[in-house]
Parts: sequence; C-alpha cells; structure tokens
Amino acid sequence: MAFSLNLPKLSIMGQGAVADSIEELAQQSIKRPLIVTDNNLLELGVLDSLFAALESKSIEYYVFNQVTPNPTANLVRTGYQAYLDNNCDCFIAVGGGSPVDCAKAIRIMSANPGDICDYNGIGKVVNAGGYFIAINTTAGTAAEMTSNSVITDEENKVKMVIIDAKQIPDIAVNDPGLMIGLPANITASTGMDSLTHAIESYVTPGAHTLTEPTALEAIKLIAKWLPVAVKDGADIEARDKLACAQFLAGMSFNSAGLGLVHAMAHQPGATHNLPHGVCNAILLPIVCEFNAAVSPERFRAIAEAMGANTSKLNDVEAANLSVKKIRDLSELVGIPGGLAELGIVEDDIGGWIDKAMSDPCLGGNPRQPSPKDITELFKRAM
Ligand SMILES: [Fe+2]
Repeated sequence: MAFSLNLPKLSIMGQGAVADSIEELAQQSIKRPLIVTDNNLLELGVLDSLFAALESKSIEYYVFNQVTPNPTANLVRTGYQAYLDNNCDCFIAVGGGSPVDCAKAIRIMSANPGDICDYNGIGKVVNAGGYFIAINTTAGTAAEMTSNSVITDEENKVKMVIIDAKQIPDIAVNDPGLMIGLPANITASTGMDSLTHAIESYVTPGAHTLTEPTALEAIKLIAKWLPVAVKDGADIEARDKLACAQFLAGMSFNSAGLGLVHAMAHQPGATHNLPHGVCNAILLPIVCEFNAAVSPERFRAIAEAMGANTSKLNDVEAANLSVKKIRDLSELVGIPGGLAELGIVEDDIGGWIDKAMSDPCLGGNPRQPSPKDITELFKRAM
C-alpha cells in the first residue's frame, strides 16, 4: 500500500497566528462557531485574543467550556447538545489534547449518525463535519493537526482511540504566546508526550522517508528546549521551538503510527485518570529497552539526536545510551520516577493487559509483545 501523509489544509505558526486563522474563517460561509475549551483557560484569559479577533469580524460564537482532562463520551454528548441548542455550524477548539479531542468527537456526532462510541477504531467516520480550527495551547499532543482523538468510554473504563483522517482540523494554529502561562509540570508532561510521539514514530516499521527527518528533528528540539521551557515558562523562543517540535512529531506519528508506549500508557490513564504525558514518560525508557533489541541502529540515531556522541560505541551500547538520555531528561524536567508514585499498585496491572494488547497503537510497535511481556514491563515501571 502506498504511503499517505495526512496534514491540515493550513497550519499557522508563531505569534499572531490566532488572528490570522480568524481571517481565514471569515472567508468561509459559516454562521456560528462552537468554541470548545476548558474553564481554566477561559479564566486565565487565554481566549481573549480569539474573542477580539472574532468580534472584529462580527462573528457570533458560543463557548462550551466544560472540557476536563481525559474527556469522556458523556462530555462529548453534552458538547454536541450545546452545538445543537446554540445553532452552531463550525468549530474552534482551544487548548491541549483534551479540548481538541473533545471538539473532534463533537464534530463527528454533528455530521454522522449514532453515538460517539460507534466510531471507536480506525476509519469509521463517514462525514467530516463543519469547518474546524484547532488552536493549540500546549506542546503537546499535536492534536491540532492529527487524525486521532482519544475519548474515555467511562462505562467500559477504556480509552477509545478514534483514528480517521476526516478528523484533521482545517486549520492548525500554534501561537507560542498562548503557551507562556503553562505550568512547569504540564510543560514537562506534554513535552515528554511529544518526545514519545517522535521516538515511537521513528522506530515503527511504519516510518517513511518523509517522516524520519521530522521525528529526529523533533527529538533534537525537545532534548534541547524542554528543560529551558520547564525552567522559564516565559522564554518565548523555547515555547516556539517546542511548538514546532510537537508539530514535527505530529507530522511523523500521524502518518507513521505509534507503538507500545501509547498502547500501555492509555491503560493507567483510563482507570486512574492520570496525565497522558506522565504515563508515557514513565513507560518510554522501559519500552525503548524492550524495542532496542530489534532495532538498535534506530536507537543510536535517537541518542545522537539527544546530543550524545556514539561514535565509539557499538549498537547495543549506543541504544543503552539513548535510554539513559531519555531517563536523564525525564528526571531533569521533574517526571515522577514510577507508576507507584501516581497511586498505582501491582494489583491494578492485571486489568490492563488485554486492553493494551487490543489498543490500536500496538500494531505500530517494532517488536510484538506477549501479554507476559506487557505485564513485566508494567511491573518494571512501578
Ligand atoms: Fe500521546
């Protein structure tokens, strides 16, 4: 099968990007956008430049500000009702992965029959839905430019991964000025999420000549700039580089795929409502050790991208060094040392194994694990 590179129609990067995206919106035949966000961002004034841009074009809007981390199917249904009740016909998401994923799911419901849970899996969406701008405020999930949304089915305690290129927003917006207020711990966890995207998409058999350079460049930028942004959130250059890095990682994983880190991280995320980036960061070096056995030369390139000199090392030593570099970065930016620190106990692991084995991200992993392997890896992550 030929390779497809899926991207938004337009991506706008840098300060002033929000106003530019509304210039584009004003040229569409739209009536009223549903703005999907969380109340925290609203109260912090992160949406003020968006409101000013909409008002300057006399575009009326309705704000749905109920999004919480790890959005649920019920939240999506509530958002869809708000879309109907307020006669909306298009979408603006503002936030990190949670508001953007929630908006993607509401948009699916607005244009397709049935319930959001009917769209869990790959390629089930028939109609894309109304015009869609996604304004990113973290760096990040890259949700503003990807085909995926992750919604928690609270009844079955599972994270649904909806994968369909029809979910890609029409415009992806990254304005580093919106990211300067992000607290250090969220900067760290979202940055480690994007590092995981870059690494998983670089080592997957789905990697392509078009995605390998973007993955490596993302790794390089994150290793250099994440500690800077965690130390000084107002460093606009660091915010800009990380916004670009997470976008590059998104370009890579959106077409190449992810792997076992995400397949595993979705499980504690769903049962214990834990931050996605923290779960990934804890699992990443452990899964890299597991994967390095089948593609050590890939991990040599990762070590090099993270600033290591591997010229005097054999493949195994270079791969080990990449794992050390990941652990060092994680520690430097303040990621917890293990799942036990997040309130997980070993008895929790048993319920996750079948779900990890059937997670759609697993297929992208370079080494196929057994249920016993996954159990062992979770134990190591404690
Ligand atoms: Fe992720």
